Amino acid sequence: MRSPASRRGDTTNVRKSEVIRIIQSDLLTDRRGTGFDRIRLRHHALPEINLNEVDPSIIFMGKKLSFPLLISSMTGGSARLLRTINRRLAEAAEETGVAFAVGSQRVMFTHPAARASFEVRPWAPHTLVFANLGAVQLNNGFGLRHCQEAVRTAGADGLFLHLNPLQEAIQPEGNTNFGGLADRIAEVAHRLNCPVILKEVGAGLSPEDVSQMVKRGIRYFDVAGAGGTSWSRIEHHRTKEGDEGLGLLLQDWGWPTPRALLALRPFRDRVTLIASGGLRSGLDMAKAMILGASLCGMALPFLAAACRSKAQVIRKILQFKREFVTVLFLLGVRRATYLIGNHSLLMADVLSDEGCDDRRREAIP
Ligand SMILES: Cc1cc2nc3c(=O)[nH]c(=O)nc-3n(C[C@H](O)[C@H](O)[C@H](O)COP(=O)(O)O)c2cc1C
Repeated sequence: MRSPASRRGDTTNVRKSEVIRIIQSDLLTDRRGTGFDRIRLRHHALPEINLNEVDPSIIFMGKKLSFPLLISSMTGGSARLLRTINRRLAEAAEETGVAFAVGSQRVMFTHPAARASFEVRPWAPHTLVFANLGAVQLNNGFGLRHCQEAVRTAGADGLFLHLNPLQEAIQPEGNTNFGGLADRIAEVAHRLNCPVILKEVGAGLSPEDVSQMVKRGIRYFDVAGAGGTSWSRIEHHRTKEGDEGLGLLLQDWGWPTPRALLALRPFRDRVTLIASGGLRSGLDMAKAMILGASLCGMALPFLAAACRSKAQVIRKILQFKREFVTVLFLLGVRRATYLIGNHSLLMADVLSDEGCDDRRREAIP
């Protein structure tokens, strides 16, 4: 008789391919409900700069990016397609000068054949690369050694630890013991020889989450808010015996990404924020940076392209870059870094629309 842990390992390995099939067959897994479209920026008919002079590059964790884009964590595993997807994403990131994160590496500890899909450094020698593990695994036998191995395998510059209580709660095989996790994350982060970035996967981080972890020394957070990929909806499809609608009930649960960024404004002098969750254009990227992000992540927008070819991924990246540069030009902003937390670029009335208390308290010019 096989142990529950071994059964969970098998499930982890097939899950990644299953998730791609679900996303391809249900367009509503992308909720398109962040609220970014309700935010308007201050157009300038006299921007007083030359479009060609706009510099969208940034430095993040000591590496120069051609513009502030991260291809967010998606995949990896023993199936050939998963390795191909990571290779295309890594090579496209290298060619265009953006950052890249592999998907959860838990599977490589149960399926050695999956490891090669995470060995991305040879495909992206100069790229800012991130490893990835589920934080809740620190309550399931994982520890510093696993984190070090994940980082080493990816040749990574940093480690994403993802928090996904909603997803785990809907999953039939979910790990739902999140007790005492903050201390365990801190312990690993203090002993690891590269930065740990704490992220959600599409329901957002609250100010209380960030406060708890800032006290414990974490400095990088990816809000990964609601309004984009819905893991609750994806897990609903995966639940064979029926979840009695729980996954659908909670498919839009969480902090919409712009709202999460605003709620984290009080921490801006102590933390570096990444925005992800429903960003779908260079315009969304500019808005996310104005709301406080230093880097912008997108996952789903690259999935279909990566299933086709590296060239398609590069095309998408360059499309987002052109959109981003055009927005900077129209704002009269010469450098991408000038956007970060610069609320004077917002139209005065836009943030109160969503009835967010945090926003009403903000003094927006
Ligand atoms: C196919 C797919 C697989 C994902 N797998 C992971 C993962 O393994 N680890 C993780 O931290 N996030 C994972 N995510 C979440 C993304 O990194 C991101 O935080 C979230 O999807 C929000 O971004 P989006 O709306 O642009 O997709 C995955 C997303 C997608 C679409």
